[in-house]
Amino acid sequence: MDQQIVDQLAKDILSLFEAEAPSRENVGIRGTELIQEFIQKPGVGESLAKLDITKKIRLWGSQGSGMQILLHGADTPKRSSPHDHGQSWALYFQVSGATEMSTYRRISGSPGRPGQAVLEKTDQTDLTPGNAMFFGPLVIHSTQHSAPPARWIRVTGTDLDYVERLRFSIERQEAVIEKRYR
Ligand SMILES: [Fe+2]
Repeated sequence: MDQQIVDQLAKDILSLFEAEAPSRENVGIRGTELIQEFIQKPGVGESLAKLDITKKIRLWGSQGSGMQILLHGADTPKRSSPHDHGQSWALYFQVSGATEMSTYRRISGSPGRPGQAVLEKTDQTDLTPGNAMFFGPLVIHSTQHSAPPARWIRVTGTDLDYVERLRFSIERQEAVIEKRYR
């Protein structure tokens, strides 16, 4: 894929929140349109389909800080436990297949803190190609890919490997700080 096309996408997304905080209105709506335009560009769809998604791929961004544009995929059925992204925002954009996205409200315990956590599911949406979901800080969500293959782009406000965030167990009614894996 032409790096210039990715660089331009990053520049355009960054410009959406130069003068205001990242939100559902700017990154969530306009950012989604920018990614829709991006995947229509010559060669982009083919490149995204060919990349090896055994591990997440950083399409744009620097390790450790700043906005990241990542490609993720599922070639076998996958399910994540509920988690947040700490203080980072995120935009999930579906490229192919479907992501079953659930969001939750924490009805016990302190927001953003580990410990006792009872979750109530507030929404379940099937993200299909071309559609996206924006999450602000601390939004609790989980993904499931029961009908792979699927590929999706995830744009995050910063490198989540370096952010303190929570993972939840519905069975244990507990939130724990996610172990950093780098
Ligand atoms: Fe997530």
